[in-house]
Amino acid sequence: MIDIHSHMLPHFDDGARSWEESLTMADKAVNDGITAVVCTPHYTKGSYENSREAVEKAIIEFKKQLRQKGLLLQVFPGMEVHVYNGVVDDLKSRKLITLNNTQYVLLELSPHFLPPSLNDIIWELTTEGYIPIMAHPERYGFTLRQPAVLESWVDKGVLIQITAASLKGVFGREVKRFSLNLLKHRLVHLVATDSHGLGHRNPRLSYAYQMVCEELGEDWAKKIFWEVPAKIIQGESLVPWEYVPLLQKNRKTRLGKLRAFLNRVNPL
Ligand SMILES: [Fe+2]
Repeated sequence: MIDIHSHMLPHFDDGARSWEESLTMADKAVNDGITAVVCTPHYTKGSYENSREAVEKAIIEFKKQLRQKGLLLQVFPGMEVHVYNGVVDDLKSRKLITLNNTQYVLLELSPHFLPPSLNDIIWELTTEGYIPIMAHPERYGFTLRQPAVLESWVDKGVLIQITAASLKGVFGREVKRFSLNLLKHRLVHLVATDSHGLGHRNPRLSYAYQMVCEELGEDWAKKIFWEVPAKIIQGESLVPWEYVPLLQKNRKTRLGKLRAFLNRVNPL
């Protein structure tokens, strides 16, 4: 499996606190069946303004230490960029790091606040040839309340990445239910660990892989744990698949209301 979102590099943010912890995380990931990880320290204005040079230097050091430990894990540079005005300029000037320096950019938002300029930023990004990947929207209060927002992003070419631990219920029952619902509606393109250490957001994906197998079958699990992330780290283009709308549009009719109800109970 390939993990495109991880805070495994030490000393950059609230992720690993030492090289020892990074290597322990890498060891757990390898034992779990993860073969490649994109290391995505936060880039957040005012708190984690990490530099490209520091991340790239740390990747070189990490590769060296992994070799010395005999751990067969590929690691790639990246960042998890907290959306701000000016993000497109900073991508174009290469201040920010996309996922393995490809066209794919990992974005995050504040959990309680939908930036009014987000649609403009998405438009600007896609116009410039970037493909935004929205990190863990299942954990944002406003998408839980208004899931149509998430569909509107997908309509604009955004890919959706959920956190493995969300499927397990680590962030509560509502987030778990929403995550499963997104999966069933084919609104999840990637599942990643967002690992910060060895606690609740740890570097494991296998349990989530099993859950996706049970929900959607193994072909689909292979697609979102292998095929899509492999194309992303290689910078290859992806053909987006159709999703099943979360709510029927004709809800006002009696039949529409019934469909919407059945859709909530059993989305497929
Ligand atoms: Fe993260």
